[in-house]
Amino acid sequence: MTKAIILSGGWGTRLRPLTCTIPKTLIPVVNKPVMERQILLLKAAGVKEVVLAVSVMDDVIKKYFGDGEKLGIKINYTVEKHPRGTAGAVKLAEDYLKGDNFFVLNGDVILNNNLKEMLKFHEENKGIGTIAGKIVDDPSRYGVLIVNNETKQLLNFLEKEKYSPPNGKIVPMPINAGVYVLEPEIFSFIEPEKKISMEREIFPKVLNEKKLFYYPISGIWNDVGKPYDLLKTNILLMNDIINNLERDVKNLIDNSANIHPTTEIYAPCTVGENVIIHGECKIGPNVVIGDNVLIENRAELSNCLIYNEVYISNNVKIDNAIIADNCNIRENVIMKGNNENLVILSSFVEVLNNIKIIAPNTFSLSVCHHEVVKEDMK
Ligand code: GDD
Ligand code: MG
Repeated sequence: MTKAIILSGGWGTRLRPLTCTIPKTLIPVVNKPVMERQILLLKAAGVKEVVLAVSVMDDVIKKYFGDGEKLGIKINYTVEKHPRGTAGAVKLAEDYLKGDNFFVLNGDVILNNNLKEMLKFHEENKGIGTIAGKIVDDPSRYGVLIVNNETKQLLNFLEKEKYSPPNGKIVPMPINAGVYVLEPEIFSFIEPEKKISMEREIFPKVLNEKKLFYYPISGIWNDVGKPYDLLKTNILLMNDIINNLERDVKNLIDNSANIHPTTEIYAPCTVGENVIIHGECKIGPNVVIGDNVLIENRAELSNCLIYNEVYISNNVKIDNAIIADNCNIRENVIMKGNNENLVILSSFVEVLNNIKIIAPNTFSLSVCHHEVVKEDMK
């Protein structure tokens, strides 16, 4: 029976300060943690048992998923005191996984591919491993796959800085999507008790045996590694969910939401449970609001993510921003990012009346958890 392991041991440094209070794999994407979406996808492919390979904030992740009963799947955990690297984490789970092939997922990628088909492809090719790939315009941030397009054999795997584009010109390439199917044979390549990288150390070794294959995944795919990716991925997935609904709706608004009739919603927007939005607000486009959020009169929100239990007072304007859980935004506050540079509030931040937080053109502006913003930030 095919099992799965999800790698969730990284620090999530590029998503700080959000990951100071929320482990990266519990960061919500359209109001559901990345890893929960992955577990549901694995379940749909027939997987009944998953190992969560955790390290940083392991207790928070264990508390959220428990033994998996709520999601209808068995969840086991391996805990690394210090992160052991992506291959070290898989080796640690050997006792849970050995016996049959298994999926490995990087815990920070959003996809909607039918993993059953990937498994079928893997079993037909009889390799040691199949790596899902996605063609992206700029491959430099990822592991680059050099493939034989006819045989689908993987010829080379170049993790990040090992790849240099031909003549220095960036061209679209297939990259490692962070989703693999591996045979138990892989364990013999990984030394136990060591920090080892699957991408840098193990795949190059297995390649020499000519037994790694490339599976081009269809549908949406995104790594939520950086704040702007996170915002973009939310919008992408929200549109995908809306387009695939049988009902003809433009927004995802929970039935429990209480929205004043004078408030205008510009699609696409998501509104979670028990949200109250008062009058004359403009919400959207590209807004995802979590649960138990209260928004007062005349607020204007666009291109932003608002997590759970947030309070937004009168006349607040938010654009190109991520507001984590339990933030408290007072009257007349303006928060504005631009393009890829966002305003990011970590959990439990309070922003006092009339404050302006404006991200510059060159970097995102972040506020750490529990801080009180008393002066304008630019
Ligand atoms: N358990 C455990 N232990 N998990 C880890 C460890 C570890 O020591 N190190 C990283 N992880 C987890 C992270 O939590 C994340 O979910 C996943 O492994 C990938 O780590 P990232 O730090 O996000 O790597 P990346 O995004 O720079 O690159 C990886 O993903 C790309 C696709 O998104 C590589 O696999 C690239 O080849 C790939 O293209
Ligand atoms: Mg990543």
